[in-house]
Amino acid sequence: MQSASLHLRPARSSDAARIAEVYNQGIQERVATFETRERSAAEVAAWLDDPRYPVVVAEAGGAVVGWAAASSYRTRDCYAGIAEFSVYVAREARGRGVGRRLMGAFLEACRRAGFWKLVSRVFPENTASLALLAACGFREVGVYQRHAQLDGVWRDVVIVERLLGDAG
Ligand SMILES: CC(C)(COP(=O)(O)OP(=O)(O)OC[C@H]1O[C@@H](n2cnc3c(N)ncnc32)[C@H](O)[C@@H]1OP(=O)(O)O)[C@@H](O)C(=O)NCCC(=O)NCCS
Repeated sequence: MQSASLHLRPARSSDAARIAEVYNQGIQERVATFETRERSAAEVAAWLDDPRYPVVVAEAGGAVVGWAAASSYRTRDCYAGIAEFSVYVAREARGRGVGRRLMGAFLEACRRAGFWKLVSRVFPENTASLALLAACGFREVGVYQRHAQLDGVWRDVVIVERLLGDAG
């Protein structure tokens, strides 16, 4: 698969099962998230129903090979323009530029939706994610020590942020 043949588009409800499948690969690998419970298509469909938060997919040869999704940061009105986000590329499609193209389209979708900042937290060991986010203009803010446990082990996380639009 060549990244040049990727089609980037907003997610549709019919993508829910494949988005869950790609997310569950990441959950199983224990490199990307504290989550250990796999997600169902119905749970993903609920995110896709919320019009406030962009979800972008990368499609190759008619199949979704990656997704990026915004989600709530805080409920306080002053933070309405800040979103959390996640990005996952299917195992077989990694390391070929999909994440980079996907994040480009996703950042633009978030800017158009009125967000001024994206934030997330990344395990220090997740070198692929840190490289992708650095390549996409994210700044490493610092490290939360022992932020939570994964499989009973305390883990640090690197805080990342990127300003969008006029804020940037
Ligand atoms: C992180 C992830 C989304 C990256 O997507 P990808 O399609 O593999 O990334 P790309 O091929 O677009 O590469 C983007 C950049 O990261 C670098 N990179 C990719 N994989 C890398 C790796 N394993 N180690 C070091 N650098 C890596 C690339 O060289 C590229 O940098 P460049 O543009 O400066 O050359 C993907 O590996 C993934 O889904 N991982 C599991 C889920 C996950 O960790 N999500 C992030 C949660 S915070």
